[in-house]
Amino acid sequence: MARVGILTGGGDCPGLNAVIRAVTRRMLDLDWEVAGVREGWRGLVEGIAEPLGRREVSGILPRGGTILGTTRTNPYKVEGGVEKVLATFEREGLDALVAIGGEDTLGVAARLHAEHGFPVVGVPKTIDNDLSGTDYTFGFDTAVTIATEAIDRLHTTAESHNRVMVVEVMGRHAGWIALHSGIAGGADVILLPEQPVSVEEACSLLEKRHAGGKDFSIVVVSEGYELTYASGERQLVAGKARTTDQFGHVVLGGVGGELAREIEDRTGFETRVTVLGHVQRGGTPTPRDRVLATRYGLKAADLVEAGTFGRMAALHGDEIVDVSLEEATSELKTVTPAWYAVAEALAG
Ligand code: F6P
Repeated sequence: MARVGILTGGGDCPGLNAVIRAVTRRMLDLDWEVAGVREGWRGLVEGIAEPLGRREVSGILPRGGTILGTTRTNPYKVEGGVEKVLATFEREGLDALVAIGGEDTLGVAARLHAEHGFPVVGVPKTIDNDLSGTDYTFGFDTAVTIATEAIDRLHTTAESHNRVMVVEVMGRHAGWIALHSGIAGGADVILLPEQPVSVEEACSLLEKRHAGGKDFSIVVVSEGYELTYASGERQLVAGKARTTDQFGHVVLGGVGGELAREIEDRTGFETRVTVLGHVQRGGTPTPRDRVLATRYGLKAADLVEAGTFGRMAALHGDEIVDVSLEEATSELKTVTPAWYAVAEALAG
């Protein structure tokens, strides 16, 4: 009997369990055995896998996180890592792998496929929605829903206290979460890494709005926004530790606090900051993410059954299609000027 492994890598994301369930159930129906690889690529480097059956995937559809665990292990950065991945794959009697992840996890999958003919299929996961080749990744809708609800709640307290509320959201170097939650939540200023409005311009938008009779405002800032000044100076605010992971990413976070201080100092408006952080990744997926994750899982399983490797399940319009892993991971999908124009039209 053929055997397929499933792994989840990178930051966790609502909908991972829905994919695991769909892949497992479809593969079992097709008479494959299924193995759950623990903690992303680390499971293949260290040889940790366990059988997955109907019982293991029962009841997990609405659960956040991942029953398989996840890490940001990069086998290309571990001594002998790639050889260990290939050896575990052999020893576990695996014939194929479904890798569920973002640019990093799938970048490893693409490279293993290109360099070793590794039989892998990808599923696009990330709250950041920054993977090319697909219109949307699963997890994004849930993150936007959580951020929008937070903005709605901050609106009422901003209004009561005549305050400016700065809301910092995730997204790394792509501003999709800030853009969508900012538009949906009616933010007055939206600051993204891709269209860096200066601190001076942001303050002047707020001043105009307040001069026009409004005495509260909502500012949504993406964690990857660089504090940008009219002088041309730009500053990326990263987490205090300034640590990087095995994929070389610096830990972001903190720009909201700096921005709030700047706004209060420059405008005199009382300003507070809320950093949403990992709340955006936690808890149950929205129905839309559950459905998307399920469709991706079924597609990935069908690609495995057909022996079509080096591909990633993707959403084009309303259709689930497959695209090359290489294409999907070659560059980040960032916010386009046309998308930003929507936010700009309603700023201030
Ligand atoms: O890629 C998902 C993401 O949540 C980013 O938006 C964020 O910058 C990063 O992961 C946070 O990583 P960690 O969970 O390691 O703090």
